[in-house]
Amino acid sequence: MASASPSLLKSSLVLDKSEWVKGQSLRQPSASVVRCSPTNPSALTIRAGSYADELVKTAKTVASPGRGILAMDESNATCGKRLASIGLENTEANRQAYRTLLVTVPGLGQYISGAILFEETLYQSTIDGRKIVDVLIEQNIVPGIKVDKGLVPLAGSNDESWCQGLDGLASRSAAYYQQGARFAKWRTVVSIPNGPSALAVKEAAWGLARYAAISQDNGLVPIVEPEILLDGEHNIDRTFEVAQKVWAEVFFYLAENNVLFEGILLKPSMVTPGAESKEKASPQTVADYTLKLLHRRIPPAVPGIMFLSGGQSEVEATLNLNAMNQSPNPWHVSFSYARALQNTALKTWGGRPENVKASQDALLFRAKSNSLAQLGKYTGEGESEEAKKELFVKGYSY
Ligand code: 13P
Repeated sequence: MASASPSLLKSSLVLDKSEWVKGQSLRQPSASVVRCSPTNPSALTIRAGSYADELVKTAKTVASPGRGILAMDESNATCGKRLASIGLENTEANRQAYRTLLVTVPGLGQYISGAILFEETLYQSTIDGRKIVDVLIEQNIVPGIKVDKGLVPLAGSNDESWCQGLDGLASRSAAYYQQGARFAKWRTVVSIPNGPSALAVKEAAWGLARYAAISQDNGLVPIVEPEILLDGEHNIDRTFEVAQKVWAEVFFYLAENNVLFEGILLKPSMVTPGAESKEKASPQTVADYTLKLLHRRIPPAVPGIMFLSGGQSEVEATLNLNAMNQSPNPWHVSFSYARALQNTALKTWGGRPENVKASQDALLFRAKSNSLAQLGKYTGEGESEEAKKELFVKGYSY
């Protein structure tokens, strides 16, 4: 096989890196594929991505110390469920009011580096007419976009699912970039009680890898999220075993698709017992298993690991993250929570304008608690009585 000659590698066309902040930079020429052997067209090819430097910079910005991601990319259907829980109808106006509340929290950018948006929100304005993307950029928060098209049954499997959205993804991604997005998210799931079958794991990994390559080709840092669902009666060792298999396959296909590891972010589930398991794991145990998994499977070139909360309580998600940051890690270990950041804020708001300030304070408090946990310095100070009870049960006393 011919080896790559550096002189054959096309130098990358790099954007002015300050430009994304203004959200105005224009689409650059697509990544170039350079054949290393002019006589054998099927020989090794090397991608020299036109966005490489920018991707690395965006990923580092999102994975910056003491900050994490606010996941606010609930689909309209899921957002409807959240609104129904506080007695609101699932209208565009209500979704807009809620999302306005989230992005306008004063000082949010101190703790939040990125916000994942649903497509509607990427093109939406706040209730007072400012573009949501512009509000985020003013807050020093990088806008991101959910690009997958959701889960459907995987034929030939054990009632498992696969994630749609690759068709047309390149042109959608280019449009999202124009609109100001600088990172993307694709969530696929793996179910332990249903197997997982080798077919479902391979499909999940391959889909994530194709999505990641297409995102990078269009200037978006891909968040790679194979969510290993919490549901099930299995113990923590079984979760660990499945997670090892899933991440091995994901990285195999990411490499095969020439994805630049320095320009991705990961969104794993923490390694815990199944939600219906009799076994309960302390934050220390969750941290030990999860870090062992990450060390075995995740190359240090990856800048950030941004965990999902997956149905954990707010305090539990903060405690687990804090436990993982008690000693230095090769990657930024942080959060990309939806429910574990938003639950109290949503309940406090209840759809009433007079509660907006209290709701925003609640969100800022959770963001700050997780920021401290990212730094390994969370103490539980300022938590509600209810949360303190939970901390007490988990062996923390204040
Ligand atoms: P949760 O933190 O509520 O699990 O959601 C994170 C997310 O974005 C799932 O894709």
